[in-house]
Amino acid sequence: MLEKIASRVRDLPALPAIVTRVIQLTEDPNSTAKDLSELLSHDQSLTAKVLRLANSAYYGFPRRINNVSDAVVLLGFGVIRSLVMAASVYDLLEKPVQGYALAPGELWRHSQVCAMGSRLIAQRVKYRYLDQAYIGGLLHDIGKVILSEYLTEVYQQVIDRVVQEKITFTEVEVEILGFDHAAVGARVAEKWNLPPELVDCIAYHHRPLQTTGNSTLASIVHLSDAICMTMGIGLGIDGMYYPLDSQAVELLKLNTTDIELIMSRLADALVDGNSILA
Ligand SMILES: [Fe+2]
Ligand SMILES: [Fe+2]
Repeated sequence: MLEKIASRVRDLPALPAIVTRVIQLTEDPNSTAKDLSELLSHDQSLTAKVLRLANSAYYGFPRRINNVSDAVVLLGFGVIRSLVMAASVYDLLEKPVQGYALAPGELWRHSQVCAMGSRLIAQRVKYRYLDQAYIGGLLHDIGKVILSEYLTEVYQQVIDRVVQEKITFTEVEVEILGFDHAAVGARVAEKWNLPPELVDCIAYHHRPLQTTGNSTLASIVHLSDAICMTMGIGLGIDGMYYPLDSQAVELLKLNTTDIELIMSRLADALVDGNSILA
């Protein structure tokens, strides 16, 4: 089983070349808005998705952003990088994830709201790299796409274990499959050559204080994920079986009012259909 799962990760397609180039270009201090617009103009379908996301209520621009050069100027390199990443994993995340009892579009919705929430939390705690938080939130559960199939085979066994034993869902995944979805997701991120902080954040999103890496980033995504679950966004069979680590909330120095504020901003963004892409 372990080897099978590892080879599934290896077989996963690489990130589209244009995404890798957008990442490189937006990290290069010498590139201009014109360079980025020109690069994006080569992929119309990606650009269309980026514009739909850019026009979502979440970013709250008073007027419509109609073309990519405006989007680049108004939103900046970091946001464009986040949106390109979101648009490019959309196909992977919008499919049903049967092993976790997630209907079509539910994992996408969960991932996108977690991404927005992570960005909001990052802003609130003055974490410098907002787009890193967004992408961490977006990709935190990507491992579920891989594990889903194997989980389907042992579905009943998993249910019995979580219900009877009161252990966390990730513990059951490790026990029955050999990996949890966080570890598998981290391997996917590695395969995509994402920066080590993101790989680490995905690996530790259910136990953010245990990382030797960036515990702030992992805590941001952990809290955002918990908020999504509280709001009932993308609850599969596993939804209720992850504890919120109160130490993560302490580390971020957030109180109940802060969290309620983030929830209400997310709820506002959700009213708007564009933010969901589907
Ligand atoms: Fe997760
Ligand atoms: Fe999640």
